[in-house]
Amino acid sequence: MENGLALTPPMGWNSWNKFGGNINEELIRATADKMVSSGMKDAGYQYLVIDDCWHNMTRDAQGNISADPKRFPSGIKALADYVHLKGLKFGIYSDAGKKTCGGRPGSRGYEFQDARQYAAWEVDYLKYDWCYTGSQNAKAAYITMRDALKLAGRPIVFSICEWGNSKPWLWGKNVGNLWRTTGDILDSWENKGNMFGLTGILDLQAELYPYAGPGHWNDPDMLEVGNGGMSAAEYRAHFSLWCILAAPLMAGNDIREMSKDTLDILTNKEAIAVDQDELGRQGQRVGKNGNKEVWVKQMKDNSRAVVLFNRGPKETEIKFDWKDIGYPSGLTANVRDLWLKKDLGEFKGGFKAKVEPHGAVMIRVYAPSGWMPPVKVEPKPPVIYNAEDAGLSGGLAMSTDCEGYTGRGFVQGYFFGTGQKAVFSISVEKTGKYKPVIRYNNSFGNIQQLSLYVNGKFAGKLKFKATGDMDTWGEHTVKVFLAKGKNLITLQKDEDDGCVNLDCIRIYEK
Ligand code: GLA
Repeated sequence: MENGLALTPPMGWNSWNKFGGNINEELIRATADKMVSSGMKDAGYQYLVIDDCWHNMTRDAQGNISADPKRFPSGIKALADYVHLKGLKFGIYSDAGKKTCGGRPGSRGYEFQDARQYAAWEVDYLKYDWCYTGSQNAKAAYITMRDALKLAGRPIVFSICEWGNSKPWLWGKNVGNLWRTTGDILDSWENKGNMFGLTGILDLQAELYPYAGPGHWNDPDMLEVGNGGMSAAEYRAHFSLWCILAAPLMAGNDIREMSKDTLDILTNKEAIAVDQDELGRQGQRVGKNGNKEVWVKQMKDNSRAVVLFNRGPKETEIKFDWKDIGYPSGLTANVRDLWLKKDLGEFKGGFKAKVEPHGAVMIRVYAPSGWMPPVKVEPKPPVIYNAEDAGLSGGLAMSTDCEGYTGRGFVQGYFFGTGQKAVFSISVEKTGKYKPVIRYNNSFGNIQQLSLYVNGKFAGKLKFKATGDMDTWGEHTVKVFLAKGKNLITLQKDEDDGCVNLDCIRIYEK
C-alpha cells in the first residue's frame, strides 16, 4: 500500500479471540504492561489492537464516535497515550457497514469523520470489518476508508476484514496493508460446522502466495496460541505455518497469564524472523501426500525456511528433496532446527525428519555462502489490449457479469451481430512476425468463428474451441505480420451463428 506501512507482516495483540466483546481499559492497560514485561515487545509484537465493542452504543449529536463510558471511562485518547508510553502502537476496530458485528455504530456514512477522530486519538492501526454492509461493494467501501485515513493525515495500518468474500487478494494491494482471506478462526485443529479450524484455514491459503508482499499481506486470521483449544504441538504447528505464510502475527490469548509453552511459542525469535523476512515472500506448499505436507518460504539471504507438517494422528516421517525448495540436488546445505534451536549439520540432496502427531518441524536450510541460484531470465511481459477499449462497430455491449476477465470487462459475443467487428489498435517496436494471443470464452459447446484482418487485409478464419462456462477463459494464438508502429487487428463476425466473448489480445514483443 502506498502508505508505506507494514513492510513486514504486522505483529501485535488483538482482544477478540480470547475476550470477544468483554473488554475494558484495565484489561488493555494490563495487556500493554505484560506485552513489554513478558518479552513479547522485544520479540517484535508492536500493535495493541482493541477489537469490537469498545464503542459507545450511539454517536453524539454531531455524529462523533466515542468509547463506551462504562468500560473505557478515561476515553480512547488516554488509552492510546498509555500504550504509546510503553513504546507500543495502538489499534482500533470499526466496520464498513451501519453497525459493527457486535452491534456498535459502524463507519458507513461517517468514514471521514471517524478517520479524523482516529487520527486525533493517535491511532496507528485500523481493523475494518464487514458486518451490516448489505449490498455495498467491498472494494469501493474499503477504498472510501483508505482515502479517509489518508486525508486524516496520520500513518495508519489498514487491515481489511472482509473474510475473503470478494477475493480481496485480487484488489487489496493498493487498498489495504492486509486482508483477511477467510471467515473467523476457531481455537480448533479442524473445522467445526461452518467455522474454520487451523487446517481448514491453512488449505485456503495454499494458492494465495502470489498476492502477498511488503506492505500488502494475506491475513489467515489472528493466532489462537495459548487459548486452550489445541495442544502445545498443535500450537507450534499453527505458529510455524503462520510464519511460513508471512501472516500477520496478532496474538489472541490472555497474555497476562501465559504458560511457559505459550510464551516460548509466541516469542520464538527464529520462527518470527522467518515471518518477518524483508523479502516478504509468502511460503508455498510444495509437497502434499495424505497427511504429510511440505511448505517452503524463500528468504532474503537465499536460505529457505521449511515446515514439515503432519496433519495426522500418528508420528510420521516427512521428507523433501532440494529440488522442491529450488536448490540443485548436488548441493550440500546446512540445516538448523528452529524449534530445537540447534544446527543439525550438513545434508546433501534433501532432508527428512520424524514429525509428531498434529505437529510441525520447522527448519531453515542454508546453501553454502556465495552460492546463488541460476538467474532466471524473465520474458518481457505481454502488452495487453482489452476488447472493451477496442473500436467496436454496431453498438456492441460490454458486460462484466462473469469472473476472470482482464481490465474493466469484456465484449459479450451475444451482442456481436453478423458483420460487426472489434478493431484493436496495436503498436509494436519492430517489424516482423508476431504471435498475438486472443483471450476469449466460448460457452456454446461448439466451434465459433471470427475473421481476422491485419491492417485491412483478410488474414484467415479463426476457429475458437468451446471453453465451457462463461468464467472459463481460453487462449487462441494467431500468427500475424506487423509493421513497426501502429497496426490494426480486426476481428469480424462473418458467419450468422453465435459468437465468443472477447477479453483481450496479448502482444509479446520480441
Ligand atoms: C468479525 C471479525 C472478527 C471480529 C468480530 C468482532 O467476526 O471477523 O475478527 O473482529 O467480527 O465482532
